[in-house]
Amino acid sequence: MKVSILGAGAIAHAHAEAVEALARYSGLEGVELTGVVDVDAARAAEFAARHGIAHHGTDLSALLAGGDVDVLHICTPPSLHLEQARAALAAGVHVVVEKPAVLSLAEIDAMAEAERAGTGGARFTQIVQHRFGSGAVRLRRLLGDGALGRPLVAVCDTLWFRPPEYFDVPWRGRFDTEGGGPTMGHGIHQFDLLVSILGEWTEVRAMAGRLARDVDTEDVSMAMVRFSSGAMASITNSLLSPRQTSFLRLDTERATVELEHLYGYDDDAWSITAAPGSEDVLQAWSDDVAAEGEQVDGGRSGHLAQLVPTYRALVAGETPPITVADARGTLELAAAIYRSAFTGDTVVRGEISAGDPFYDSMGGAGAPWPPVKDVPVQEVTA
Ligand SMILES: NC(=O)c1ccc[n+]([C@@H]2O[C@H](COP(=O)([O-])OP(=O)(O)OC[C@H]3O[C@@H](n4cnc5c(N)ncnc54)[C@H](O)[C@@H]3O)[C@@H](O)[C@H]2O)c1
Repeated sequence: MKVSILGAGAIAHAHAEAVEALARYSGLEGVELTGVVDVDAARAAEFAARHGIAHHGTDLSALLAGGDVDVLHICTPPSLHLEQARAALAAGVHVVVEKPAVLSLAEIDAMAEAERAGTGGARFTQIVQHRFGSGAVRLRRLLGDGALGRPLVAVCDTLWFRPPEYFDVPWRGRFDTEGGGPTMGHGIHQFDLLVSILGEWTEVRAMAGRLARDVDTEDVSMAMVRFSSGAMASITNSLLSPRQTSFLRLDTERATVELEHLYGYDDDAWSITAAPGSEDVLQAWSDDVAAEGEQVDGGRSGHLAQLVPTYRALVAGETPPITVADARGTLELAAAIYRSAFTGDTVVRGEISAGDPFYDSMGGAGAPWPPVKDVPVQEVTA
């Protein structure tokens, strides 16, 4: 399989390194990183030299027309993902799209349509690497087996720090180009993991604020979420927190499971505490580690952990583990957080549909504070 990367910025390096590592895994020996495209010619050339990539250029259409690509990793700003993925899918090229895949529920539905209409069974998948570390896989397995009892209470905190200059990048801090603030851009990693563990959410009540940064979006949001299992979670998404942490805690009938990390975790970042009389869960947790067999990338939650099963599926002509429906479930939770925060209403799953302003934009008809970023969107993404 010939792989190209579109957008040679910060995260593209993680993609290049992970794709290069794929050939070490059985069944993936034929995966090869062969191209990189960026509107900035010098950046594409530098990226190609650094990663030993044969072809670099500035034109996605030329790459797709050349027919020398099977999978395109889309690492551009989020407002470009839909059109670029549409072009690739129409050309019969699979797409691995960085998070957030798109800016709104309307766009994710358009992405689903683009995949349906694509050529030769080309697939869409989205990066959500934190679902794929061994600890998350184990937790889902033990919950599924009933070993931990029912999930009851969860805490999901993304407490990160981004200084004012982080928002100098023109596409950041705007609903029309970044999709949202820490809810869409940062906390989404952790609450996507929460959704993968707890399943269907049913109801959201939220608040958001722009407390300290010159952005149009929120710089902090907080939500209370009910799941169909009955479990309840609090979610905090902040870019104003000097001691940074990503924290997930799940209390079940039989244990507390905790994860503390920053931008990625390994097995050591997880801990489990048994409820009184349920000490067997500790054994179940460590037995499960022993039974896991192959741990991709040492159990870490990086891009490689997701790309190994993703490429195994693509090579076999099967559906990748993350589908457009998975991406939509988490985006719908983000949209519900914004709508509840900006309107004061409780939002029930399924309620945000075509015709609702929060279907078209995470910001709905606009945040309850005046915008500060007034550069036209064309200039931001040109
Ligand atoms: N999964 C993660 O952990 C993670 C971490 C950081 C960023 N991201 C996501 O990755 C994406 C990119 O973020 P980044 O921080 O790397 O951004 P970046 O600004 O560093 O890089 C974006 C690149 O895209 C290029 N580009 C812009 N328009 C283009 C076009 N029309 N065609 C080709 N190239 C174009 C830019 O020149 C730049 O090199 C975003 O969606 C972001 O949310 C994911």
